[in-house]
Amino acid sequence: MDIKLHNKTFEPYISSNTIAKAVSKVADEISKDYQNEIPLFLGVLNGSFMFCTDLLKQYNHSCEISFIKLASYQQTSSTGIVNQLIGLNEDLTNRTVIIVEDIVDTGNTLEKIVSLLKEHPIKEFKAASLFLKPTVYNKSIPIDYVGLEIPNDFILGYGLDYDGLGRNLAEIYKLKEK
Ligand code: HPA
Ligand code: MG
Repeated sequence: MDIKLHNKTFEPYISSNTIAKAVSKVADEISKDYQNEIPLFLGVLNGSFMFCTDLLKQYNHSCEISFIKLASYQQTSSTGIVNQLIGLNEDLTNRTVIIVEDIVDTGNTLEKIVSLLKEHPIKEFKAASLFLKPTVYNKSIPIDYVGLEIPNDFILGYGLDYDGLGRNLAEIYKLKEK
């Protein structure tokens, strides 16, 4: 069923079953790669909160979890301006940091986080994103773990918002074209 948020209509797009499979795939891949060290998962707020929750419940090795909060997206278009709101407070010396994003589109947010990480003496970083819009992504940072590649449609649900609304939806909806 379509839903209306603010002044826009959204239609069902990706089911919770498909999301769950994509999350499990990412969890399995990361689990295989990090059995012998303790990675720090760095969730990017607000959008990645649901992905982080489901992903990390399926990650069965030792890990630490922290969050960073930037602002990058206003309404339905990316501004390209990214401001840090909650910073990195932990000691990242010699740590493997796995950045956890809900979605990578232009990659502006990811690029900003990577530049913040590079101010710390980390061992390495990896990037995990539930969704990737490959036709819009224009940065060279590898996205090491991707749940699902999607076209350049505006989506919401499962943590993703339209102007603050829709993050609580269990499924992904996409903006309905007139
Ligand atoms: N929806 C919501 N937030 C976003 C999107 C999107 O499609 N892309 C980047 N941030
Ligand atoms: Mg948003």
